[in-house]
Amino acid sequence: MVCCQNGVETAVKDEVSAAGWKLAFSRRGFVSLKHDGGAGELALPHGVFVRTAAWSLGLIQGSDAASNREALIARLSEAGGEQSWDRLHLWPRDRLTVGKFGFEPGIDEVSLAVAEYLTPVLHSRGIVRQSLCNQVATPGERVLDVVLIEPSQWAIGWHQVPDPAAASDSAGYVGSMAVPLAWPGGVQPIEPTVPVISRAYYKAAEAICWSGFEMKAGDLAVEVGASPGGACGRLLELGMRVIGIDPADMDAEILGDKRFRHIRARAGDLPRRDFAGASWLLVDSNVRPDQTLTTVEHIVQHRQSSIRGLLLTLKLGGIEHADRIPGWVRRIRGWGARDIRVRQLARGKMELCLAARLDR
Ligand SMILES: C[S@@+](CC[C@H](N)C(=O)[O-])C[C@H]1O[C@@H](n2cnc3c(N)ncnc32)[C@H](O)[C@@H]1O
Repeated sequence: MVCCQNGVETAVKDEVSAAGWKLAFSRRGFVSLKHDGGAGELALPHGVFVRTAAWSLGLIQGSDAASNREALIARLSEAGGEQSWDRLHLWPRDRLTVGKFGFEPGIDEVSLAVAEYLTPVLHSRGIVRQSLCNQVATPGERVLDVVLIEPSQWAIGWHQVPDPAAASDSAGYVGSMAVPLAWPGGVQPIEPTVPVISRAYYKAAEAICWSGFEMKAGDLAVEVGASPGGACGRLLELGMRVIGIDPADMDAEILGDKRFRHIRARAGDLPRRDFAGASWLLVDSNVRPDQTLTTVEHIVQHRQSSIRGLLLTLKLGGIEHADRIPGWVRRIRGWGARDIRVRQLARGKMELCLAARLDR
């Protein structure tokens, strides 16, 4: 079973079909799949639009939480195999498209209430080892997953969290999913310690973590399309020095940080020396992907470029354009980039995040 952004179910089905997965059941934001191969030989489905995935143990639909809880316990004992898990993750499918009517993905009040009802019983019966629900899992842990398709309709599954250390440089399942599979529902839990200037703060936090980039305090990062400054806020919070390039105004909070420099310009108009010494390049400008890639190409192909990692927002402009992704990846590979990954971030809207490393 797969959770994805509401409205991209067909794209999920299309991208996992090459690996032999066929559609079984779907609702907006939730897709279950079947495969003719033996479960032991298969990896979980993965792809650009797969936010998180788990091995399905079926659906439960009762009249209330009490009957669902009993049905869940019965289902787990029928399922055979190992009957205990390290943790419980419980979340709702996305009710709406991210951003529509202010909708944000992740744990809502209903799932909090159901988790509170379910967790102590599963814990006391030895089904789930940890007594707290929806904590970040660690590599190797087995997680019991409950997705609230509706408050009374639960999809049950489980997954094991891969080791992100094995993810560096690997494509496919481990590369794209190792980090999000540790998060409840594939949505990064984060508690900002700085004022959040725009929701791009959350996108940047998720992108940095998912990419596995070794971004550290003191590094110089450049963001193109930096106004008003949500993502710059995250970079500064991580202790980095930041150059923000944008013709529009930056938030006063960001401008007041001594480690921040605003270059009020369009990226294409800048001399390459403005990027000297930068290790990381983030782009979040509201322009077409081809224009973003032309801008980045000029920066990274300059002989003095020291950029080691790219985190690019590519505006998709509609799910029907998903077939353009391979072309963008080919273009970036042509710059000598490696470990190229693309993901629709949980907190991204109809856009993709592309991460790539460059050897310097
Ligand atoms: C989605 S907003 C960026 C949000 C920002 N990353 C944040 O963290 O708050 C897009 C920005 O791209 C900027 N932009 C558009 N074209 C640009 C270009 N060629 N160079 C630099 N900035 C550009 C716009 O001025 C706008 O502020």
